[in-house]
Amino acid sequence: MKTIEIAEVLEGKHEGKKVKIRGWIYRTRSSGGLAFVVVRDSSGIIQCAVKKNAVHEKHFEDATKALIESAVIVSGTVKKDDRAPTGFELQADSFEVIHFSEVFPISKDQSTEFLLDVRHLWIRSQELNAVMKIKATTLKAFREFFDKKKYYEVTPPIITSSAAEGGSTLFEFNYFGKKAYLSQSAQLHLEALIFSLEKVYAITPSFRAEKSRTIKHLTEYWHIEGEEAHLSFTELQEFLEEMISFVCQKVASTNEKELKLLGRDAGELKKIKAPFPKLTYAEALEKLSKKGRKLKYGDDFGVEEELLLTEDLDVPLFITNWPKEIKAFYMKESKDGKTVHGVDILAPKGFGEIVGGSERETDVNILISKLKHEGADLKEYEWYLDLRRFGSVQHSGFGLGTERFVRWICGLEHIRDTTPFPRVINRAYP
Ligand code: 4AD
Ligand code: MG
Repeated sequence: MKTIEIAEVLEGKHEGKKVKIRGWIYRTRSSGGLAFVVVRDSSGIIQCAVKKNAVHEKHFEDATKALIESAVIVSGTVKKDDRAPTGFELQADSFEVIHFSEVFPISKDQSTEFLLDVRHLWIRSQELNAVMKIKATTLKAFREFFDKKKYYEVTPPIITSSAAEGGSTLFEFNYFGKKAYLSQSAQLHLEALIFSLEKVYAITPSFRAEKSRTIKHLTEYWHIEGEEAHLSFTELQEFLEEMISFVCQKVASTNEKELKLLGRDAGELKKIKAPFPKLTYAEALEKLSKKGRKLKYGDDFGVEEELLLTEDLDVPLFITNWPKEIKAFYMKESKDGKTVHGVDILAPKGFGEIVGGSERETDVNILISKLKHEGADLKEYEWYLDLRRFGSVQHSGFGLGTERFVRWICGLEHIRDTTPFPRVINRAYP
């Protein structure tokens, strides 16, 4: 007999029929001649009833003594049973233990730090299983969207010699006797690639030496970045709202079950549809002031401001036209000489920034003066400046933090749970 997924059994189409499943013991209890063993696989969980006289004597004995996380193969008849945890029961006629587990170290009410130490085991939990499935849908949906827009997926370097996002969060290492850095963003290399392919995207790890612990910073995260030749700042914003809507709809329709398990309503995600509200930085300052939060022109927004700006929203908020002093050197200066064509997208309800994007500066002299002002080593940017010397055109792009996005979609307290093996300031294990 072929093994099938537990989820398939739970769909009800095998009721009354014989099936074979394989997985790991999720929970177990036995009394007298009956053992109830709840088994999980990647797709779901089901209760197996193992009766003393219905299976081989050794199978029954094994069913009563196998501990949680033992690996098993079970076959039996499917019965609908409302008392069973997932509404169906498998009445076993065979219960084979492939591996007897040792005592599993994880039980209820353990500390966050302990669960992070045994993360390699904790990723088996229903919650992390659900988040990882949603993350997989998310990555697939972004790729599908880029594909629909005729973007090419490219493979930029991770080892770099120039910083895209400033020196303070750079991971530096010794590259055969020379300084090199782990990439903070593929942007600069994507900009080079548009002169060949016009529309490009990359999904790569990005690294930031974030020296404080917060609920939205990782030191290693998966960065989804796009860059397009000839794209204006307005067109970039249209692209971004269409993209976010598309991905939210995909997750809502694909992962209703997983969202529910996490306490998130798929119906709410379905309401996330373009167009989204947009404020300029100056308008955002005004909104904050009305809420009693007075900032000086040129102050950046922190967690508190992000919450105040988005607490009353159900959809993301675009903030555009930032003062040039607080944004990166590569952003296109507006005609007013004060602001840049940059956009930050804030997720609703204080989930914070999920996207940073901009139209790129095309004037080589402005770029040189800004790089000098930042104290950058111009030699390391010669190649980038060349892009403005050989066929320079208007272009725009963005970066989206996959884990930030998934945290918002799943409604999670902390970003670490959006990734199986989180990397933060004090942790690179397991
Ligand atoms: O706003 P950032 O720094 O922008 C850039 O890196 C641009 N060069 C991207 C581009 O235009 N191609 O980072 C982009 C996004 C942020 O909006 C956030 O979602 C995410 O990357 N991000 C982080 N996510 C997790 N942990 C961190 N430490 C992050 N830092 C940034
Ligand atoms: Mg940013």
